Amino acid sequence: MPPLENYAVVVVDTLRATTTMATILERGAQGVLPVADVDEAFSLRDKNPHVLLGGERHNRPLPGFDAGNSPFDYPESMVQDRLVVLSTTNGTQAVERVRDASWVALGALVNARACFEQQIRAADTGLVVCAGTEGQVALEDVLAAGSIVSYWPTDLRGDGAHLACAFYRRWQDDLVQGIRLASHAKTLINQGLEQDVDFAASLNIYSRVPVRQSTNWFAYS
Ligand code: MLT
Repeated sequence: MPPLENYAVVVVDTLRATTTMATILERGAQGVLPVADVDEAFSLRDKNPHVLLGGERHNRPLPGFDAGNSPFDYPESMVQDRLVVLSTTNGTQAVERVRDASWVALGALVNARACFEQQIRAADTGLVVCAGTEGQVALEDVLAAGSIVSYWPTDLRGDGAHLACAFYRRWQDDLVQGIRLASHAKTLINQGLEQDVDFAASLNIYSRVPVRQSTNWFAYS
């Protein structure tokens, strides 16, 4: 594999970080910054009190934060023209791990087609990085990765892309049922977060993609 800096990378954490970050921008935020560390989030707000803090641990909002990791936590009235710093268990860590890539975007089912369109413009070689759950493969991320690579020409797909695409094709007509098979979906449903799971199964409701800027913040460009 060539060095990461040659790739246009889309990071996927369908449940729920990348779905939520895409939604935050869609609701009119100026930018969103995924950070791995909670203390880093607090120190960013200390420097700029206008910043909103969001995120989760164990799927629950963090003490002292303004919101959790649900897309429904971020209405337009709250995020319009604001900067949002998000820290989550897996998704924001995955973004950190691809920091050397030349181009990074945040993908999910909600913006799958737009991810493909932006990715082919950004570099010759595309990579979709699934956040997974604590180092394990996460079905919902394979589903969303499959939706993105389903737009790639067949001869550009590696083995992982073919597998993800086949799984997506199996469920593309019933994404709610497909995503509900995921163990993390079951956990969220048990915690009363069923609407987040079903929302994350909404295909291509957004036509723009959060892309990393020179400041490291993600924004619509
Ligand atoms: C994560 O980053 O691990 C997830 O987004 C967890 C969640 O569902 O909030």
